[in-house]
Parts: sequence; structure tokens; C-alpha cells
Amino acid sequence: MAGVANNGEASTWRSCDAAGMSGRALSFGGVAEAYEQFRPGYPGEIVEQVRAYAGQPIRSALEVGAGTGKATRLFAQAGVMVTASEPDAAMLDELRKRVPHVTTLQARFEDLPLAKRFGLVYSAAALHWTRPEGRWSRVAALLRPGGVFANFGGPVRLADPSVERVVQEARAPFLASDEVPSPDGTAPEARLQWPGTELERSEWFVDVQQSVIERRFTMSAADYVGYLSTVSAYLELPAAVQQQVYRHISTVLPATVEISADLMVHLARRREPSSRHEPSVPPTSGHQDLPPRHV
Ligand SMILES: C[S@@+](CC[C@H](N)C(=O)[O-])C[C@H]1O[C@@H](n2cnc3c(N)ncnc32)[C@H](O)[C@@H]1O
Repeated sequence: MAGVANNGEASTWRSCDAAGMSGRALSFGGVAEAYEQFRPGYPGEIVEQVRAYAGQPIRSALEVGAGTGKATRLFAQAGVMVTASEPDAAMLDELRKRVPHVTTLQARFEDLPLAKRFGLVYSAAALHWTRPEGRWSRVAALLRPGGVFANFGGPVRLADPSVERVVQEARAPFLASDEVPSPDGTAPEARLQWPGTELERSEWFVDVQQSVIERRFTMSAADYVGYLSTVSAYLELPAAVQQQVYRHISTVLPATVEISADLMVHLARRREPSSRHEPSVPPTSGHQDLPPRHV
């Protein structure tokens, strides 16, 4: 099996280019409320880790693919001035309801204006949807020299192998697999996982660190199926088939399920500029349908 993407998605990986960026990558908006209701949030430990790594106060941050603001609220509550960017209008509406006091920006990562630089750029379960070309020079261009990049996420899995097996059997007629190969093909047993692998190869970043925050919790069967209904692999199925697969899975689930949802955290520091060069950023994606706008 290929490496598992650090993305919180139980779905088969395809690059944004392959997905056309308008379909699957933007499939979450149709279930924005369910996303907010059923997706697990993030622990405050992440902010502590980022702060300890930064070694200095973080005043401003840009979030990429903020969704309904599950990670936004963590940093905002910790006193960081967050600019939450997200291309999907429905997800962003949900975010504004939940986290009203942050600046929001409706834009794809590829279209983000580079006018401002931040002390922190971070992304939760979203970076794998961005176009790989020019990814790191763009992140570097959005960071002050010495600024920090943080990425976190991880798969939400059934902890009990016997429950996982019956769910797999129930899902199989509709969806072959919900495992996520690593975006860059990193093997699951490799020491460094994506996007740490890309960061380490990038000329713009130093001091790449990877850590895991273990998470175990219990969900009702109904909430677990609610969670599945926000996963893009299921969202790609025709609506009637989605209902069928959720019904099939519901019938084999016990009343409550144990969940294993470890988070992998990657941290890196933007290299101080040499006199030789500054990041040269590829032009924006050219998509004109979602002009960036500050709200
Ligand atoms: C799995 S959700 C994660 C949302 C949120 N960060 C969280 O952790 O709950 C992925 C998000 O990435 C967004 N997205 C998709 N393509 C993107 C792109 N090219 N640039 C930025 N965000 C993108 C989607 O609209 C969606 O809100």
C-alpha cells in the first residue's frame, strides 16, 4: 500500500489537476453543515506545538483551505490574528458563523494574493488539494523570513479491526477502498511522511519536524455515518448510491464505534533570504471564477 496522506480524508487520492480543482476538491460545500457537525475538531496541543517551535510570539497567521474553521478557531482563540482562506463559499459561510472575528478570504491557495506576509502559514487537512507545482515557493512568499509553516491532519479510522472488516465488506460494492495513498508516493513505513518529504526537498524551508498527536474517541454509529457523509470519496458517488452505501454500513455498525484519529503535524521554518534570491512564484491558477476577496 502507498503511504497514507496526512489529510483527514478517507478517500482515494487524486491530484488537483486530475480532479480539475472544481469538482472533487470543492465537493465539501454541499455538506458544509454536516462537515461542521460531524468532523472532529483539533486539540489545543497543536497551537502549543507551533508556538514552542516558533520560539517567539506569533501575531498573524494565514490559513489555507480553512473549511468551516475547525482549526481557525484554535489559533484565533489563542490570540493569533488569523486570515482564513477558503475557496468554497458555503464552507466559508459556515466558518463566518462559527468564528466571526477573523478575516476571511475566498480564494484557492493558487490564487492567494501575495501582498502580505505572515508569521505563520498553516493548513489542516487541505494542502493535498492544492496544486503541487510552485506550492512551496508560494508558501515561502506568504511567510516572513524565519516564519513558520505548519500542516496537520490524519485519517479517521475505526479502531476495532473486526468492525473495520465488516464496514469494508459493506462498502465494497460501492467503493473499492477508502485508503489514501500519499500525494508523493511516500511509503507508510518511511520515517518522514508527506508533506515533510516535500518540505525537506524544498530550498525554501529548513528545520523540518514531524510529530504525531494520538487521538482515540468514541462515536455513535449515526455520527460515524454522518462523518462518512462528509468524505469526498462518498460525495463523488451519485446521491442515491451514497444513501445506499450509508444504509449498508449503518446495518453492520455496533451502537458506538471506537475511533483512531491520530494527527500528524509537520513544522518547518522559512529560510532567511540570501542576497541571491527570493521565491519566484508561478502565476495564479488562471481560474477567474473565484476572484479573491477580503470580507
Ligand atoms: C477536508 S477539508 C479541510 C477543512 C478544514 N481545514 C478542516 O480541517 O476541517 C479541505 C478543504 O480544502 C479546500 N480546498 C480545496 N481545494 C483547495 C485549494 N486549491 N486551495 C485551498 N483550499 C482548497 C476545500 O474547499 C475544503 O474546505
